Amino acid sequence: MIALFKVFMSKYASLRVSNVLSSGYIGEGPLVKEFEEAIGRYIGNPHVVCVNSCTSALILALRIAGVRVGDFVATTPMTCLATNEAILALGAHPMWVDVCTQTGNMLPDSLSTVLRTTSGIKAVMCMHWGGVPCDVLKINDVARMHGIPVIEDAAHAFGTEIDHTKIGNHSDFACFSFQAIKTVTCGDGGALVVKNMAVVKRARLLRWFGLDRELSTDMRCHQDPPEFGYKMHMNDISAAIGLSNLKLVGGILKTARENAQYYDDAFENMLNVRAAHLPDSVRPSRWLYTVIVSDPAEFITHMRNCGVACSKVHDRNDTKTMFAGSRCNLPGVTSFDKDHVCIPTGWWVTKEQRDHIISSVKEYEDG
Ligand SMILES: Cc1ncc(COP(=O)(O)O)c(C=O)c1O
Repeated sequence: MIALFKVFMSKYASLRVSNVLSSGYIGEGPLVKEFEEAIGRYIGNPHVVCVNSCTSALILALRIAGVRVGDFVATTPMTCLATNEAILALGAHPMWVDVCTQTGNMLPDSLSTVLRTTSGIKAVMCMHWGGVPCDVLKINDVARMHGIPVIEDAAHAFGTEIDHTKIGNHSDFACFSFQAIKTVTCGDGGALVVKNMAVVKRARLLRWFGLDRELSTDMRCHQDPPEFGYKMHMNDISAAIGLSNLKLVGGILKTARENAQYYDDAFENMLNVRAAHLPDSVRPSRWLYTVIVSDPAEFITHMRNCGVACSKVHDRNDTKTMFAGSRCNLPGVTSFDKDHVCIPTGWWVTKEQRDHIISSVKEYEDG
């Protein structure tokens, strides 16, 4: 079976981890700092705070954005539950925004309508489905008109570029995931990327009980944090894995993008299997390659019978019981949720395998 996901692990990771394990210090230390600096250099923004997951980064971003109990956050339902459960974790509620039927990404016009017609919205949460960037520039324009910050759930979008600028430079907050099967993994980990040092400093306090780890090393007994924090820091074991894998991110992305381009060309003239046409200005990470098909259940079964694992990966969040109070009519979400499927595209898919994937898709197309 050709896998839909695979863990990428640099062969240098075990040595780096082994050095940490025998060093006598395995908590948040010099390697976390080194990883933050390396991420900052890679994305072109030095304001990076590493945490133990993207979920933690999302909660930190919402908290720093000023979202409080009873507030609303304009958000997409077409995402991992983590995105919107973070909103619930703050005691806030989602206000759903519709998405594009082809990409699954938030529509700026729908956002504009939601912000115009609802009061009490304190932040916008958008997400880059599969690493294809949402229109984050327009989303920021709309949010700015209402004076509220934008949080990007960039869990899928490490390495994604818009006009040669990497995700992590456009909004007040961008949250990355280094979970097991992401483009770059730490085992588990995440990063909050922000716009300035003042926010970095607050995020560093909030990620560890509100305490300043730089002030002293005597267990910080004398500190009196003015606000509570969490236990969300990254440790040096995770950072060692992340640093080893980050070195190889260029090759990981190159293969995923080549495979995606190959699929784009092959699907160009198909009727029952379609991929979104993207503007030349965007360079997605291609963590997922998503197609719109006429019958996803039949497509998934057919592909499985051909030895190719496919899946919807995420389904709409707004119909889940935990969000029961906030349902509304979302035609784009209904369409994308019903019709989309993701096919393998990552670094592990060989040229022979992608040919097999295309010929399997052609069989479905030809009925
Ligand atoms: C869109 C999205 N957001 C957030 C998360 C949560 O990431 P983490 O597991 O690092 O908390 C995921 C996980 O897959 C995701 O796909």
